[in-house]
Amino acid sequence: VFAGGQDEAAAGAEDDLIVVGYAQVGAESDWRTANTESFKSTFVEENGYRLIFDDAQQKQQNQIKAIRNFIQQDVDYIVVAPVVETGWETVLSEAKAAGIPVILSDRMMDVSDDSLYTAWVGGNFLKEGQDGVKWLNDYVKKNGLASQELNIVLLQGTIGSSAQVGRTQGILAGIDANPKFKLLAKQTGEFTQAKGQEVMESFLKAYPDIDVVFAENDNMAFGAIDAIKAVGKQPGKDIIIISFDAVHEAFNRMIAGEINCSVECNPLHGPRVAEIIQKLERGEKVDKIQYVVEEVFDTSNAKEILPTRMY
Ligand code: AHR
Repeated sequence: VFAGGQDEAAAGAEDDLIVVGYAQVGAESDWRTANTESFKSTFVEENGYRLIFDDAQQKQQNQIKAIRNFIQQDVDYIVVAPVVETGWETVLSEAKAAGIPVILSDRMMDVSDDSLYTAWVGGNFLKEGQDGVKWLNDYVKKNGLASQELNIVLLQGTIGSSAQVGRTQGILAGIDANPKFKLLAKQTGEFTQAKGQEVMESFLKAYPDIDVVFAENDNMAFGAIDAIKAVGKQPGKDIIIISFDAVHEAFNRMIAGEINCSVECNPLHGPRVAEIIQKLERGEKVDKIQYVVEEVFDTSNAKEILPTRMY
């Protein structure tokens, strides 16, 4: 019997369907909602699938439990967007012993034995971080600010998630490389708007002279914008804001001049994972690591690009 309350007869009728268990991170951001929607609209009966979806509410132990449930239900494939990078060896070994291929999507796992998963598809988080700082370097040059010292704060994502680890690494290396850039503080805002706002409020209290905010996702930037407005400053003008994901609302904020730049992180992984599964079904080899090509958007192109955005 599958999760979702179906009885054995119903499950029997679905014998031809490929059963996919998706251990999702949670519902912390607009990006995540788009990612869930991408899986739910791809893995449907008309396409030959039955999806068992689990929302881990940003907790690794919930994901481990979900993966064990999927193993018990003997699904055909397990897909995981891991909350954090480490701590997966035991449960992935259990999936391997059960003969169930595991596909990673979005975030990465840091495992000693990479035969524990079949393939990974997602964004290059390190490059995203580097692209964000490159945008800032270009911006200060273009606007005659290159000789000015810039005070920077960093709102980080969930600590230990590969989206945080990669972006933070790229951003910090870029800050270090420019003697005019000074990092005042960094703290996690857990990839949520509410926490982003709360942390930004405390940054603004501690540091009255912030010039730049890096927010490791758009939703934390939305929270930071509210905090900046509340102290009577203009986001995007008094304080430069660079964020990540490039969701619809970030485009609206760029058009309004409140976010200066958003580095794309593409969440539409449902069809990409389906393609991997179809290849495996046909007995074909799949590339182990598959990076998605991503772009950088800012106030100069947001209006023109927005109508073409899918999420
Ligand atoms: O792993 C991708 C990140 O997770 C996105 O940047 C963020 O919005 C989400 O919560």
